[in-house]
Amino acid sequence: MNPIVPSRRDFLKGAAAAAAAGVVPMSFVKLAFADPAQDFTFAYISDAHIQHISGSKFVRNWDRGLIRAVAETNLLTPKPDFVMFGGDLGQLGMKEELDHGAEIMSKLRYKTHYVMGEHDYYLDLGEYWSKLFGPHWHSFDHKGVHFVVLNSVLTYDEWTYNRWPSAEERMLQMAGLDNPNGSPFMVGEKQRAWLKADLDKVAKTTPVVVFSHSPLQKLYKGWNFWTDDAEEVQAILAPFEKVNVIYGHVHQIQYNQVGNISFNAVMATAWPWPYPNTYAQAQHTMPVLTVPMNRADPFFERDATGWQFIDVHTGRVALKYNLYNNTARTVAWNPATGKPEDTVFQDPSKRVPPQVHY
Ligand SMILES: [Fe+2]
Ligand SMILES: [Fe+2]
Repeated sequence: MNPIVPSRRDFLKGAAAAAAAGVVPMSFVKLAFADPAQDFTFAYISDAHIQHISGSKFVRNWDRGLIRAVAETNLLTPKPDFVMFGGDLGQLGMKEELDHGAEIMSKLRYKTHYVMGEHDYYLDLGEYWSKLFGPHWHSFDHKGVHFVVLNSVLTYDEWTYNRWPSAEERMLQMAGLDNPNGSPFMVGEKQRAWLKADLDKVAKTTPVVVFSHSPLQKLYKGWNFWTDDAEEVQAILAPFEKVNVIYGHVHQIQYNQVGNISFNAVMATAWPWPYPNTYAQAQHTMPVLTVPMNRADPFFERDATGWQFIDVHTGRVALKYNLYNNTARTVAWNPATGKPEDTVFQDPSKRVPPQVHY
């Protein structure tokens, strides 16, 4: 088994900084290679959901989550080569929210790439977001790795253009978690053609890291933890030896391995989502390789947030979680079983009983 990345303390400049920070709603991703001289890191912050109230007032908790993540990212050592923001910067795509979020993010000392979230998109279809952060999808190369940023939150034209009396109504409908009036996300034909052409120029041995907002796999349609053309996108990625898809949107820990593609969700700075009951009740809605975690406490704003280390070196799921008020956990590919496993969780005698709902 390949070693997982070092502990959180190794990435902070000192214990004092760690103690002051408490909880860090960001992920630190290390890309490790056979030759350690090639290793590099990047940071990942996601799902800030900056929410405008009125005037200069914004929902304080969401502001605080992002501010803390930015501050901690600036303290990381070694310094990340760049920062990814995983989407849902704003709550309802408003100019005020995107501006306020951009202002908080501007304190980062690193180049930052942005992924489009549905909360950023469905008010003006990403127009203002694009003015602030650039193209809806793009790719770049960095130290031998090909990075792809997708807009995975598109949907059917009929839903986007013909169904709603106003842009605000469209945004509200897509913003609901379990709203039957929403519509499944997709990458879409045009972007898939772009992705294929982009990857045609890349050697199959080159590690590929794809950033999307929604999971590029079908997890739970009722909550749009779902991408409708996931299989088509996976087919484009399948020929590559090492592919990591890193996504936000689900505000919870998820991991999965499909062929050469490993899927890693990152946590949100705003709030954790619960695990849908359906994960447990109907196995087929969740890939069997994914282990649902115990439910976060909705009355504790920092529950289920923390540090997450993703080692893409293996081309397989290899993760370490340091969550607030929780023991550190490791999930890694087990060649013996052919699955990524959290051996602690999967040993029934060591499991913490699921939280009682009340
Ligand atoms: Fe979100
Ligand atoms: Fe989202």
